[in-house]
Amino acid sequence: MTIKKIGVVGAGTMGHGIAEVSALANYKVSVVDISWDFLNRAKERIMESLNRFYEKGQIKERPEDVMKRIEFSTSYDIMRDADFIIEAVPEIIELKRKVFETLDNITPSHAFLASNTSSIPISTIAEVTKRKEKVIGMHFFNPPPIMKLVEVVPSKYTSDETINVTIDLVKKMNKIPVRLKVEVPGFVSNRIFLRLMQEACREVESGEASIEEVDSTARNKLKLPMGIFELSDYVGLDVAVDLWNVIVNSGTAEDVKCEMYKRKYEAKELGVKTGRGFYNYPAAGKYKKVDLPISSKVDPARLISLAVNEGARLIQNGIVSAKDIDTVMIYGFNFPKGLMQMADELGIKNIYNHLVDIYSKGYRAYRPNSLIEELAKSSKGFYD
Ligand code: CAA
Repeated sequence: MTIKKIGVVGAGTMGHGIAEVSALANYKVSVVDISWDFLNRAKERIMESLNRFYEKGQIKERPEDVMKRIEFSTSYDIMRDADFIIEAVPEIIELKRKVFETLDNITPSHAFLASNTSSIPISTIAEVTKRKEKVIGMHFFNPPPIMKLVEVVPSKYTSDETINVTIDLVKKMNKIPVRLKVEVPGFVSNRIFLRLMQEACREVESGEASIEEVDSTARNKLKLPMGIFELSDYVGLDVAVDLWNVIVNSGTAEDVKCEMYKRKYEAKELGVKTGRGFYNYPAAGKYKKVDLPISSKVDPARLISLAVNEGARLIQNGIVSAKDIDTVMIYGFNFPKGLMQMADELGIKNIYNHLVDIYSKGYRAYRPNSLIEELAKSSKGFYD
């Protein structure tokens, strides 16, 4: 099946980036949103991004010419001849289901329907359509024009054809696909990200460290591009709280009691998008690297311990391999090396001891996974 035209529903942070990536891969693109305010802002942001690439010689085609392949509308009519549609509307399950119902009615029967959801189960979205086998998760990372990873998430209904077409499309977009074997709430990326946020939050709320110290360790010791709180602000604290709730409420991850994120969300301090979150930014929507102290007492092994425990669980449940987790973190979050590799280098015994220590303080989510326990006892690593 040849894909000629890609539809994108939702022109926000992710949608406009996905439209740009699709046009850069030479596809015709139709973007739908509910108002021209959103669509015009999306046009501006795509142009800004294309200009940055063009000025640096990273694309040869003139931005105006790339733009000619993208059409915008507030009506779904422009989706009537689309072959592959990617939905990127807010993470509200009823809204997603409504969008998929509409797409199912309006798009040609051969069209594939993908969702960029970061945590909602694909099967619950697919169930509103009459083509469940053609519905799939296609999870991009912010900012889509820069981040290389796309998680490909089949539901229990998704056909092999749909999986293959999606993987092929991801590659044509010059991105790296990681395919989940089984659908799991939050996928791999956000389960790991949740665990990093939870440990960061726990350290601050329990008085072990300040926000800046946690982020200093993330940036200066682990060499991550952003601190954990900084990244949460960048992603949006509404998105962070949503994915936190979806994963915990699914019953597949024990919660870590920590209120800071919820308090920010309730105060509508949503991070970069509102100009204020855990840090202050120059203006709403304007990210500027935050200033952090050079040294910090936060132990890097402790900061990643809960995330590594989660990784071990995903491996043990046959969802992904250690290498897949590392690909997700390197290409989805720009980590300088994979999380599981970091764990091996910092010492699994070390990670295990932190888990045991925090678990003994009453945090049940830190109960060491049996794979970590086994590796710690035999002094082995994930890559041995
Ligand atoms: N379009 C084109 N170019 C862009 C761009 C865009 N949208 N955004 C950034 N760039 C370019 C800049 O022009 C700059 O290029 P040069 O190095 O050639 O000058 C480069 O990218 C770096 O940008 P900045 O100098 O502005 O800032 P930075 O060095 O801090 O990098 C960053 C910014 C690439 C975002 C980096 O901080 C980073 O990788 N952060 C981690 C992002 C991350 O983890 N994303 C995933 C979040 S989780 C998610 O999205 C999933 C979910 O479901 C929640």
